[in-house]
Amino acid sequence: MRVLGIETSCDESAVAVYDGERGLLAHLLHSQVALHAPYGGVVPELASRDHIRRLLPLVRQVLLDAGATGSIDGVAYTAGPGLVGALLVGATLAQSLALAWGVPCVGVHHLEGHLLAPWLEPRAPAFPVLALLVSGGHTLLVAVESVGRYRILGESIDDAAGEAFDKVAKLLGLPYPGGPALAALAEAGVPDRFRFPRPMLDRPGLDFSFSGLKTAVLYAAREAGADLDRQTRADLARGFEEAVVSVLTEKCRRALDQTGLRRLVVAGGVGANRRLRAALSEMGAHLNVDIHYPRPAFCTDNGAMIALAGHHRLCGDGGDATPVRARWPIDSLQPPARSFG
Ligand code: KG4
Ligand code: ZN
Repeated sequence: MRVLGIETSCDESAVAVYDGERGLLAHLLHSQVALHAPYGGVVPELASRDHIRRLLPLVRQVLLDAGATGSIDGVAYTAGPGLVGALLVGATLAQSLALAWGVPCVGVHHLEGHLLAPWLEPRAPAFPVLALLVSGGHTLLVAVESVGRYRILGESIDDAAGEAFDKVAKLLGLPYPGGPALAALAEAGVPDRFRFPRPMLDRPGLDFSFSGLKTAVLYAAREAGADLDRQTRADLARGFEEAVVSVLTEKCRRALDQTGLRRLVVAGGVGANRRLRAALSEMGAHLNVDIHYPRPAFCTDNGAMIALAGHHRLCGDGGDATPVRARWPIDSLQPPARSFG
């Protein structure tokens, strides 16, 4: 089965074609970063309007790139969680195309897409796995038995990891989107000049909290003076990044220990972070646990993960053109009737 995937949950218009036998045939993305940058964050109404402008040309081009014009067997779109106006654009186009082509259509859970992204890579893991899902909106540790069987082991009780990166970047005067800019600045930072608290490491359990860490950086920045020089900003960024990385790594170690799982997949935008990958790989080598990451472009939002998740759903039970929604707990999903894991 050949599936067209459409992702419009936030500030990326992304499309892809995934073929059950040949794998990913083509993917394209238009980032709205330049559009939202003057506002310091995503403006939902502008996001929706830009998806309307970009999506159809992207779909035409991806079908050409994939050599798949006239040979799509199903259409998948992100149904949530995300910005409702933005989601509606992708859902409406997907359902219209499916109706015109006389093929089935399925609404995909954005986080299920992220979670399955490591299966786009040549060295895909076998189930079951532990998944660390670290995006702009979510920080989750999930025991994944198979596609659609998700048990949440831990989650953030306040800010998501990516959100913390973005907020700290903002207070250090970095442009939106903050995560990659903060990681780049941290490269020049001195490792132990600022040592920030490791929230929630001193107590049992697998939940996370990042808002106190953000406040600690704010106070340290204030104490360092009104006009921070570049080195001090880099040192603050480095201290913050080290704290987030050590919390995420230690919680993964605990979750692996508690569940006995021997494979870890890392997904979501923060999964592109170089220092996080290095720390997790070191832990994996130490514990003899296999670690799987999607390539950085498939850690952040993309159409390929939606086409792949849609393929599982459409092959599994035909899928469901479900209405879009801002919130949608991932553990409310059901596995498809037939599994292709
Ligand atoms: O998964 P994603 O593209 O979108 C959501 O579903 O939220 O994640 C975006 C988040 C943003 O908060 C962004 O700052 C963060 O991922 N991010 C990073 C890096 N690349 C993206 N955070 C830290 N280091 C990076 N290299
Ligand atoms: Zn995402």
